[in-house]
Amino acid sequence: MVVYSPHKVIIFGEHAVVYGYPALSATVDLFAKIYLIPSRSGLQYTPFVQRTLAYLGLNNIYVKVETNVPSGSGLGTSSMIIAGILMSERNYTKEQLAKEAFSIEYETQGLGSPIDTSTISAGGFVLTNGNEGIPLWKIEKNGITWNFSSIPTRNMELVVVYSGSKGSTREQVAKVRKFYERGSFAKDIMKRIGGITQEGVKAVTNGDIAKVGELMNENHSELKVFGISTDQIEKIVSIGREYGYGAKLTGAGGGGAVIIVPRDKEKLLKKLKELNVMVFDTSTTSAGIFKRSE
Ligand code: PMV
Repeated sequence: MVVYSPHKVIIFGEHAVVYGYPALSATVDLFAKIYLIPSRSGLQYTPFVQRTLAYLGLNNIYVKVETNVPSGSGLGTSSMIIAGILMSERNYTKEQLAKEAFSIEYETQGLGSPIDTSTISAGGFVLTNGNEGIPLWKIEKNGITWNFSSIPTRNMELVVVYSGSKGSTREQVAKVRKFYERGSFAKDIMKRIGGITQEGVKAVTNGDIAKVGELMNENHSELKVFGISTDQIEKIVSIGREYGYGAKLTGAGGGGAVIIVPRDKEKLLKKLKELNVMVFDTSTTSAGIFKRSE
């Protein structure tokens, strides 16, 4: 059995979604292959893999993950692996998988939102906390409810760039939380990001990629205020702005990845190559996680 688990990007609304504001995410056409292989060697694991195996009562298993995307890139690797392990062993509806994977991720991480696990389970464009689209499910934790819907629309080309350093979701979420708890300025930023997401959903639905790019630029500028961008992310974003319709960091930040809506793709890829970063010339996909016997 092999599970194909897609990476995800947050197009608009990371961090704001932690506080219940809307966000738009999507699976991208970059899939990891996940295999559970019997092994007696008692191998090391990251806490979330250990917890998922323990949850299923599995011992002596090696989790093999084949992907070109580095972990910690903000592209959903931990959620993909948790969901992949669960799915290898059991049959779930998309909703059950989204909920169980989130509860394991939350227990391990102690914070964050269910956006990654829900996006990977559902596939396609997923709106968190919005009124548009086809309703999927609701998830509640610590008094915050996130509701998810699916936005059926055409896929969009995206260039995804790994900045070369890992970002820690836990650290970045904690950093932003400090601002959020301190005063109203961070709350105002979150509100504005929520507004950008709402406009972004319209632009994505209309296939207006120029507008999507413009809104990504705005979203990035708002996020930067929290100090979660890096010099390398700024270099990538500025190339993205020049040869694309727009660019922003995606995920928690502090490293990780940038997404760019390409305009002059040939030049864009050439310029990124000069920076010596890892580039994935890809697009969104309507597929979510699935399994196949091999
Ligand atoms: O970096 P990632 O892929 O774990 O995304 C984190 C998104 C945040 O909004 C920053 C946190 C969350 O769990 O929603």
